[in-house]
Amino acid sequence: MAQVTQSAASALPRGFRSAEQGWPRLDRIPHPPRRVPLIGDVVGTHVRTPIQDSMRIAAGLGPIFRRRAFGKEIVFVGGAELAAELADESRFAKHVGLGVANLRPVAGDGLFTAYNHEPNWQLAHDVLAPGFGREAMAGYHPLMLDVAGQLTGAWDASAAAGRAVDVPGDMTKLTLETIARTGFGHDFGSFERDFATEGPHPFVTAMVGALTYAQRLNVVPPLLSSVLLRGAQRRNAADRAFLNRTVDEVVAARRAAGGGPGDLLDRMLEVAHPETGERLTPENIRRQVITFLVAGHETTSGALSFALHYLAQDPAVLAQAREEVDRVWAGVEVPAYEQVAKLRYLRRVLDESLRLWPTAPAFAREAVADTTLGGVHPMRRGAWALVLTSVLHRDRAVWGEDPESFDPDRFAPQAVRGRPAHVFKPFGTGARACIGRQFALHEATLVLGLLVRRYDIAPEPDYRLKVTERLTLMPHGLRLRLTRR
Ligand code: HEM
Repeated sequence: MAQVTQSAASALPRGFRSAEQGWPRLDRIPHPPRRVPLIGDVVGTHVRTPIQDSMRIAAGLGPIFRRRAFGKEIVFVGGAELAAELADESRFAKHVGLGVANLRPVAGDGLFTAYNHEPNWQLAHDVLAPGFGREAMAGYHPLMLDVAGQLTGAWDASAAAGRAVDVPGDMTKLTLETIARTGFGHDFGSFERDFATEGPHPFVTAMVGALTYAQRLNVVPPLLSSVLLRGAQRRNAADRAFLNRTVDEVVAARRAAGGGPGDLLDRMLEVAHPETGERLTPENIRRQVITFLVAGHETTSGALSFALHYLAQDPAVLAQAREEVDRVWAGVEVPAYEQVAKLRYLRRVLDESLRLWPTAPAFAREAVADTTLGGVHPMRRGAWALVLTSVLHRDRAVWGEDPESFDPDRFAPQAVRGRPAHVFKPFGTGARACIGRQFALHEATLVLGLLVRRYDIAPEPDYRLKVTERLTLMPHGLRLRLTRR
């Protein structure tokens, strides 16, 4: 794959490639009706909600459409058949564009943001993949339980005091602590912070700042960005410096200790590539640590938050999930590693939440050679499209007439077998799909199991789901009321 895509990269200019450069028959792809000269398709859209705007537009325009804003034209794909074509690794590969490319100043050639042809991608992938194998995961399990124990400690206190809990805030603490401790032996002390007086951990503030800034760059015209984003640029530089400093301290502490428990950081520092003997450089390690701390918590936090929202909204689903946990973990105080994957129904709840709100809501694919998408849309080598996962996950041809309804049984084995391949893609696709998938699923299923076993969960009476976008998706302002069972 690496060689093919390298030539793809040289076929078209680097940096942002507007669709005119790669799609010779753009006229065949619909766009929203009220296109404003020079500005583009911005009527009725908002810089803070690009994904939800695109979902609305997709509902009117169909499986493939384009949007133009300030000279940038982008092709979006939400239809299952076209998305399945884009998943064909012999014709398409990951495209590092838009939001992902805007993260390069922070994450460099770390796994998530590396171009396909960069040697450090394969090197880091091969060195780090065993860090997500079964044996490694079983080693993380006790640490995940410790962090979950901190969460339930905090939630017990809220339940006793009759205080609603801030779900996205607490899930973010949980997932940040989990990846930091399992991956790097680092404790951010998130649960010891008093959120009301101290706010989130400064690492989280800096990370959210960097993600939000990267998203703004997608929607602010380049010529205006130096004016419109002047203050934001300064804050972004400070955020990046803070992220780097934090990571350098974590690495220095590990080096000073002469090694750790064989976690991801030890792999980065000590393991050579099994065939070439190459090692990650210190600068690349810095990029990887930032990548894992960011990629490893924000999305899982959103997935847990959406799942808790749906559990709280649907007493029948909650009852079924709880019945399963009580049965599968009967007589077990502390679930063992193997007992987590046995929570099949809870896993369906998680999958169904990720169907409706895939917290990494899009991924980009580029043609590795000249090709024609769907038999009618010619693409030049290097041309790319953004797959809108939340639209793909609502394609009526696959998911039926009521794709908006929350129904975990869509993920019952028979239902899954009855669907075509490549229709459920919350973790992306192909060689560049999520390396942390099993990690996220294990962590989230474990935590959901512990929570539904421990608490009765009720929504706040007037809560209506509102989704915030900052490259990832999150249920805005979600608070729940808990009672110890
Ligand atoms: C529910 C949680 C998660 C979701 C929805 C998610 C989603 C994704 C998606 C869609 C991609 C592909 C992006 C693209 O094609 O541009 C990806 C890649 C990646 N994810 Fe995740 N992720 C999750 C959790 C995690 C965790 C827990 C980790 C680390 C512990 C992680 C680390 C990564 C990395 C390093 C990549 C880049 C892989 C590569 O290109 O080699 N993710 N993730």
